[in-house]
Amino acid sequence: MPKISGFSKLSKTAKVDWICKNYLASNKKAKETLANYWNTDSKLQKLHDEFTENTISNYYLPFGIAPNFTINDKTYVIPMAIEESSVIAAASKAAKFWDDKGGFKAEVISTTKVGHVHFNYEGDPKKLISFFDKLKPQLLAEAKPITQNMEKRGGGILDIELIDKTNQLDNYFQLHCSFDTKDAMGANFINSCLEQFGQTFEREAAKFEAFQNTLPEIIMCILSNYVPECLVRAEVSCPINRLGETTEEAHKFAKKFKQAIEIATIEPYRAVTHNKGIMNGVDAVVLATGNDFRAVEAGVHAYASKDGIYKSLTQVSLAKETFKFWLEIPLAIGTIGGLTNLHPLVKIAMEILGKPDAQELMKITAVAGLAQNFAAVNSLVTSGIQKGHMKMHLMNILNQLEASQDERLKAIEYFKTHTATHAKVIAFVEKLRN
Ligand code: MEV
Repeated sequence: MPKISGFSKLSKTAKVDWICKNYLASNKKAKETLANYWNTDSKLQKLHDEFTENTISNYYLPFGIAPNFTINDKTYVIPMAIEESSVIAAASKAAKFWDDKGGFKAEVISTTKVGHVHFNYEGDPKKLISFFDKLKPQLLAEAKPITQNMEKRGGGILDIELIDKTNQLDNYFQLHCSFDTKDAMGANFINSCLEQFGQTFEREAAKFEAFQNTLPEIIMCILSNYVPECLVRAEVSCPINRLGETTEEAHKFAKKFKQAIEIATIEPYRAVTHNKGIMNGVDAVVLATGNDFRAVEAGVHAYASKDGIYKSLTQVSLAKETFKFWLEIPLAIGTIGGLTNLHPLVKIAMEILGKPDAQELMKITAVAGLAQNFAAVNSLVTSGIQKGHMKMHLMNILNQLEASQDERLKAIEYFKTHTATHAKVIAFVEKLRN
């Protein structure tokens, strides 16, 4: 297969021609399919083309909504961008279940984000400490042009600390820098500050006579997506006996539910799937609101391992006849900057949510994660997960088969009492057609 140089400089049409000719030759409809996903509004299409590089089409994700969420006594409809079937249905079901039990409560615990100047230093640590003490006010002063606007909004640089990491890696030190980025996710702000620190650091180090020929060398300046001090907690609770039709059924359910969470607390194989279910909700809101789901994913999973074993992000307690179920996750997300001001659907998502600030969005997102986990574990310990999933699975297969309305109705009826495997649905529809 051919390679190409200067691909990025080609026009979009030339890019499409090149990929279709060289990699999609056997697909006669490739060009048409790519074009079918372009927006007919050329201005809107240009906007999407410019989000990233080398674009040849748009990749759609369904944009759905989960209504009837009560969070801290306020009603929300939660926008979710996700391709997986049953996720939005499960969120909506959990919202309804908790609605007459006080709804969801959520609180932001902390909002600090961090970044580092990582550097190498082979000299006497005492010299480095005295250099840093002198340097720190200058680091802050020279970052002022970057921090001014953020400070007007009440944020900025919180602190810069010198950390000796040489017990873990020879000659490795860092400037551990903490930030409050208010309603912005803040990646650009933090990285700009860090690179400015790096420049000031290098220039001043060269002038610091005590270093002589043991100058520190900067390795890199970058924010961290591990944000254990940018935490949010979401919770639901109700008397145990409200969890079932009878007191016995309710207690049985609560006990099984608790065991499921305990399994995910000690068994990483289960914990990963358990937390994946939480992220079904979290990622869908993060995406719909134009935030960086890769950053959130990385930070959340690292947090799940903070005690040295990967474990459940949700916890449950049955003390005092009360079922209390909660989620605590780090979330570095914003409501200004990045895609939030650009993507028309992100603007709609923000409007649906009542234009939240970053802290409110953290709470809503955590609630979506908790609701998702409640719905998943609820199904797992009662009917099993496949019942709900297979309904959507059936619809997907029927869509693939381009089933008529009559075929659909017959298939839905039949598979109410039969397991809908891919092969069985195909056989069923083929039989109808014959
Ligand atoms: C599927 O996307 C998510 C679940 O596997 C989560 C879980 O097992 O808790 C259903």
